[in-house]
Formats: sequence, structure tokens, C-alpha cells
Amino acid sequence: MAKNMNNFDKETNRFNISSLKWNVKENELPMWVADMDFLCPDAIYQALLERLNNKTYGYSIIPDSLYDSYMNFYRDRHHLSFAKENMLFSSGVIPSTSSIIRRITAPGENIILMTPVYNIFFNSIVNNGRFISEVPLKYENYKYDIDFCLLEEKLAEYRTNLLILCNPHNPIGKIWSKEELAKIATLAKKHNVYVISDEIHCDLTNPNKEYVPFFNSCSEAKEIGISLISPTKSFNLAGLQTSMIIVFNQYLYNKINRGINNDEIAEPNFLACVATEVAYNQCRDYLDDLRKYIFSNREIVKNYFEQHIKEIQLIDGEATYLLWIDCSQITHKNSKLLAQHIRNTTGLYLSEGSQYGSCGKTFLRMNIATQKFRVLDGLERLKEGIRSYKES
Ligand SMILES: Cc1ncc(COP(=O)(O)O)c(C=O)c1O
Repeated sequence: MAKNMNNFDKETNRFNISSLKWNVKENELPMWVADMDFLCPDAIYQALLERLNNKTYGYSIIPDSLYDSYMNFYRDRHHLSFAKENMLFSSGVIPSTSSIIRRITAPGENIILMTPVYNIFFNSIVNNGRFISEVPLKYENYKYDIDFCLLEEKLAEYRTNLLILCNPHNPIGKIWSKEELAKIATLAKKHNVYVISDEIHCDLTNPNKEYVPFFNSCSEAKEIGISLISPTKSFNLAGLQTSMIIVFNQYLYNKINRGINNDEIAEPNFLACVATEVAYNQCRDYLDDLRKYIFSNREIVKNYFEQHIKEIQLIDGEATYLLWIDCSQITHKNSKLLAQHIRNTTGLYLSEGSQYGSCGKTFLRMNIATQKFRVLDGLERLKEGIRSYKES
């Protein structure tokens, strides 16, 4: 069989399937939520079809082969080893995050976020009656770094016992180094703070770069860390609701295990394990091709901005298909107005940066996990939207 079954240029039509991303007008172009427009790997489609053909759709167990697929994939791909005893199935990274917050922190306590960061973390904290303790990342010359002095100050506050880390970091696309992760883990341990490391974007790195699992940073990480992993971003399976919690500390494992069962998020739907196993066991080539495609899209955008939209600056990301765009030369107030203007005048739907924390308020986020012709269309629309915004 020819190797290149993965034609990421192939146009997909996601209208009329109740897609969240494509719940837009016909002339609009959605480049917002983290969801890809590509066909999933053929092997996953075939396995799902085979399962559907059985025509019985009752309750499912979690087979040992699911745990094996995670263990083998993470060992081979990310040099991270864990055992079945360290793993807990959950129906999503955010359901896990919210459940863990409820189990290992108390109402009124602080949870640290390094902002700008994935917006739904804010909801998980606030909706559970906890407070956000914000540690804005330092931003200089279009680069982000951790403000370790401020981080330690916040970790030391007596009402703080959890930090949520995004590794790699959505929306800035940064891969944290082993040293940075080890410093976070050591400081967290020193101040008795647990760390959730959301690693959902870990497979989608620049083809020449690898992420560092939080657990591989230093020995303290295994004492205080909880990693959340999933094939849903990497293979576009978010609608199947499948993820894994990895935890080495037995006390935490027991607490989290009770929490997710209590919250009824510990059981899979009948397709979740089927798709995950095939993804991890058989679709590694797909992932390699996908990374190349996404990073060539990133290059297209970078060159386009340099040539045609000089007033905006693309932040140099090494992971994710989400681009973080500095629009401070165009808007000092709030990119919400800019995003609304672009959508109203051109139909291009981007995410406005203030969703990711107030330090994101002059940014836009653009999802480039789509066919190249759509990326080019999006760029034309963006250029036009910015031109007319400046004149308005
Ligand atoms: C950093 C991050 N975590 C979690 C999620 C959502 O995970 P799930 O669908 O498993 O709840 C997303 C989706 O965009 C994300 O970007």
C-alpha cells in the first residue's frame, strides 16, 4: 500500500455533523477551538467501523490492551515509563482537572496558573469555588519565560496547594525545558504544592523537537505530580472522550481514584478504547506526517506575516497547532474588539487573547490545523480585517 494515505490537503466538510468548531455561517472560516479539520487515520476509521458493525453498543470495560498501548507509546516516543498501577482512565483532561481540584484542594484555596494559559483551567478553578493565583509569564522581545521569583512567592502562600502547568504550553506553544520543569517541581515540593501537568499537546511538537514529560524532569516530580495525557489532540479524537491520568504518589492515586469514580468520569464509552489503542499502536506514521504538515503551515503563516501584515508578530512556538499572535501595535485595549471586527467583516473566527488571562488582551490565537488552502484563505481574511480595523 502506498505510504502516503495521510492527505492533509484533502478538503473536509464539517457542516451538518454538529461540529462545535464549524457551528458557523457558511461563509465563515473557523480557526478557533483546538480541533483539527483533517481526516483521522484510516486505521482508526476501520477499527471503529468494525466495532460498529457488531451492532451491540452496551457498557464497556477498560481492557489491559488499552493500558499497554499508552505504556508502549509513551516509552517509545517520549522515554517515559509508567505501569498500570500508575494509570487511571478518565473521559477527558478537563473532567480530570476539575475532579482532581475538588479532591485535593478545598473551597477558598488558591490554585496557580502561569498566564496566558488555556482558558478552561480558569473555569475549572472558579466553578469549584477556588481562587486563581496568577503568575504571569515574563514577556520580553516576543519571548516568554517563567518568573520564578513570583512563582515561589505564590507557592509559599499558605492557602495554595495546587499548580496547573500546561506542558507544552497552550497558547504560547512553548516546550518547557527539563531545567525549568525540575525547578517548578523542586519549588512545588518545597512548599507542599501538588502539580497537575496537562500534557495533552505533547505529541504535536516541531518535528525536530521533543517535549520533556514533567515526570522525567527530576525525582520530586513523581512525588508531587499528576500528568494528564490523551490521544485526542494528536489524532483528532476529542469527540470520543478518552484520556489517562498518570500518578506515582500512592496517596494521590487513591484520592484521585475515589474522586473520578465519584464524579462518574472513570468509565469509557464503547468506542473510546478502540480508537486510542489503534492510534497509539498503529498510527505513529500519521503523527510524524501531521507534525510536518502543521509546522509547514506555521512557516507559511510566518512568511505571510513578514511580507503582508508587518504590524503583527507571530510568537515563535515549538508545539501545538495554535498560533499566538501579538497585535499590540494594532490594539492596546482589548483584542476582543479586533477579533469581533475581523469576524464581522471577513468571517474569519479567531480566539481573542484575553480569554487566556488579562496579559493576553492584545493577542489573538489562530488554529492552523487545517488544509493549506484554508490557511491561505484565513491569512487573506486576516490581512483585510486588520486593514479595515485600522481605518475604522
Ligand atoms: C491544554 C488543554 N487541555 C485540555 C484540553 C481539553 O481536553 P479534554 O477535551 O480531554 O477535556 C484542551 C483543548 O483544547 C487543551 O488545549
